[in-house]
Amino acid sequence: MGAHAPRLARKTTPILLLALSLAVVAFGATDSAALFNFKEALQNNSALDNWNSSVNPCDWNRPNWVGILCLNGTIWGLKLEGMGLTGIIDIDSLVPLSHFRTLSLMNNQFVGPFPHINKLGKLKALYLSNNRFSGQIPDDAFQGMRSLKRVFLANNEFSGNIPLSLSTLPRLMELRLEGNQFQGRIPDFRQKNLKTVNLASNFLVGPIPEALSKMNPDSFSGNKDLCGPPLYSCNSPLRALNKKGNTLKIIIGVILLLIILAAIAVALAMFHRKRHRPELERNPSLSMNSNKIAPSYVADQQQCQVAAESSGQSRRSDKLSFVRDDIEKFDLNELLRASAEVLGSGTFGSSYKAAVGSGQALVVKRYRHMNNVGREEFHEHMRRLGRLKHPNLLRLTAYYYRREEKLLVYEFVENGSLASHIHGNRSLEGKGLIGKPG
Ligand SMILES: *[C@@H]1O[C@H](CO)[C@@H](O)[C@H](O)[C@H]1NC(C)=O
Ligand SMILES: *[C@@H]1O[C@H](CO)[C@@H](O)[C@H](O)[C@H]1NC(C)=O
Ligand SMILES: *[C@@H]1O[C@H](CO)[C@@H](O)[C@H](O)[C@H]1NC(C)=O
Repeated sequence: MGAHAPRLARKTTPILLLALSLAVVAFGATDSAALFNFKEALQNNSALDNWNSSVNPCDWNRPNWVGILCLNGTIWGLKLEGMGLTGIIDIDSLVPLSHFRTLSLMNNQFVGPFPHINKLGKLKALYLSNNRFSGQIPDDAFQGMRSLKRVFLANNEFSGNIPLSLSTLPRLMELRLEGNQFQGRIPDFRQKNLKTVNLASNFLVGPIPEALSKMNPDSFSGNKDLCGPPLYSCNSPLRALNKKGNTLKIIIGVILLLIILAAIAVALAMFHRKRHRPELERNPSLSMNSNKIAPSYVADQQQCQVAAESSGQSRRSDKLSFVRDDIEKFDLNELLRASAEVLGSGTFGSSYKAAVGSGQALVVKRYRHMNNVGREEFHEHMRRLGRLKHPNLLRLTAYYYRREEKLLVYEFVENGSLASHIHGNRSLEGKGLIGKPG
């Protein structure tokens, strides 16, 4: 055996060398072809224009092609960063590259699902951060990648759970998943070599695995509800407070809102009363004693007189005009002095129920926004209204005309009004046109 070996070696060496060199050439060609296949699947790949098939990608450790990582004349990785690349990541085309260990496609424009990266079983580093990859990553996406040390998927749009297979990678040292939409719980990472993990700005919940308890708390910030070291303990009162704090804020917010709404309601109610009270609604006991009548009412009456005098109509305009004569007469002062009860108020004015003379009940409607109606026109309308007779209609009894304000006086009907007859007793109070039934 010892004697044969050298002879055999001497005989076969040239053939072996030839075969070897052919293999190297073939190998180089395969590498180039593999890379060209990878490039073909990409879009907007003009940044890779210097890839030239007549030149070897690598001169030992020196790359001839842009973005190629070379080691001892082999292709060790691709670093195609910030090149505006998009299109398909053809993992299959990289499988023939037997020394391929690292792939970086960071800061490009890639979209779509996570590529089938575990076809590159010897990969040590995967950098896909700052693209627009999206969707759920299958739980077994990293299955069998026993050499993988670095996984950078930050700032994409990945969703769903963090893939379980990441937590079983035996060599994992650095994991960056921040700025995605990962949700659910963090899988139970147990790797001892894990040095950096960043899971910030996702939608993760639940306890942080013990193996990650020494990480920087910032690596867990901006999630939905993570707990345990390095954050608050999951049953710490601080965390409860923190959670309650949010609830408390909401409750306080709601209470504040209610208080503000109540304040607005009270203010509106007061404003409303202020506008309408001085008119006819008055305390009957006050109305008996003119000395005690509210100043606003006095002002009201004076206004009437001033208006009457200035309009040159003498005291005639101070009088009510009656459109019916089958009714007990009363004068304006009597009406103004009468105890009154607000029936409703609306867009055009307010209605009151008042009792005059021998307790005759009347509905008085006060219109304030009919300033454009001329005196004659108004008289004419009132006369026509006075002639209307219908069982379902309140009959006009009298009216009062002043340019700024008109009063219409109806007889009061106990069991309803036109509105309640027409609308089946649903009050039209708010419309202020027809008095509410008493
Ligand atoms: C590829 O390289 C060869 C040899 O260096 C050169 O002649 C040729 O112009 C190159 N082609 C491109 C497209 O750069
Ligand atoms: C690369 O070649 C050098 C010698 O030139 C050797 O020491 C080293 O182990 C080789 N590396 C690999 C990864 O093959
Ligand atoms: C194409 O790539 C260039 C850089 O090479 C980049 O500026 C551009 O935004 C990219 N276009 C698209 C559509 O991604």
